[in-house]
Amino acid sequence: MTDSENDQQPTTQVEAARKAFEQEFERFARFTGNSRELPALDLDQAIAEQRALADVRTRHLGKKSALAASKKLIGRVPAEQRAAFGKFVQETEAFVSSVLDQAEQNLRNFIESERTARESVDITLPGRRPRLGHRHPITLVRERIEDIFVSLGYAIEDDREVETDFYNFDALNIPDNHPARAWQDTFYTRDGFALRSQTSTVQIHAMQRRGVPVRMIAPGRVFRRDTPDPTHNPMFFQVEGLCVDRGISMAHLKGTVAEFLKRMFGPDTVTRFRPSYFPFTEPSAEFDFSCFKCNGKGCRICKNSGWIELGGCGMVHPNVLRTVGVDPEEFSGFAFGFGIDRMCALMYALDDIRLLFENDIRFLEQFS
Ligand code: DAH
Repeated sequence: MTDSENDQQPTTQVEAARKAFEQEFERFARFTGNSRELPALDLDQAIAEQRALADVRTRHLGKKSALAASKKLIGRVPAEQRAAFGKFVQETEAFVSSVLDQAEQNLRNFIESERTARESVDITLPGRRPRLGHRHPITLVRERIEDIFVSLGYAIEDDREVETDFYNFDALNIPDNHPARAWQDTFYTRDGFALRSQTSTVQIHAMQRRGVPVRMIAPGRVFRRDTPDPTHNPMFFQVEGLCVDRGISMAHLKGTVAEFLKRMFGPDTVTRFRPSYFPFTEPSAEFDFSCFKCNGKGCRICKNSGWIELGGCGMVHPNVLRTVGVDPEEFSGFAFGFGIDRMCALMYALDDIRLLFENDIRFLEQFS
């Protein structure tokens, strides 16, 4: 090997390294300009390019690169050429690293701004208004009833819808063979449970839980074996009322029911009691109130009678009190029960109570 060949070789090697780099870098050259000229890429492509560019850097500036090998030759070139060769290697390295830096920086900026754009929210857009629901008409009526009784000092009781025969019938003085079981036929499970056919069950639970004196109402679902038609549903709502204390009489019952109906339908509302029969009360009555639409004159709503029939009531039967361990000689009480669905249908002039359970939003959103 001649001296001149020896001199030549390291320089050629560096030039070859630069050439190889330039060739490979060609496809990244578009990233060395102004970064705003990059939008031909999408974010995923830009990220892939960034990775490819990192590989290029390793190949051309890494420990095993041709340039790294050239650096090792610096000490071996003749002393008088060493400085010039060293400078040449350094300049080449600086060139390679500066174009790489520039391309990398531009890609990084591009990726960052793409990410920001993707994640940004246009705060000038109008907000999306959450769709507020409506309270169900039955809930609206129930809440009015609750408010009135709470203001009269009554507690609100909630209780189970699946019951045993004991609570639905026996404890309410309806023994096994009693005909009253027939008109309250309900849904039974195979293991002796039934869906409650009346909220009167809560009278028993409430007295067992709270003892007496007690004043409570219990709104809730009840179930009966019934074929749906415009005035019947196999599931409907009732409100039960119970007041037990020393010295409670029929006068308290009449006063309470009359006051409730006045607050519900207006101060001119008249209440009427008709003798009736329920196994769990003695004496028993049914109560009607003067039509809130025509004030008793007669109209479509009250079927021209002037009265609207609402529910049953009476003085709690001594057997019921005994069942929960209350002495009927010391305590007496009254109870009442009525349906919410029909009351609701009358108040909102619905001609079919099945609408209440069809969950048709066009129907339900009319009430608030
Ligand atoms: N539970 C009765 C029914 O479903 C309604 C009722 C009548 C409840 C008289 C009472 C009452 O508390 O005293 O038809």
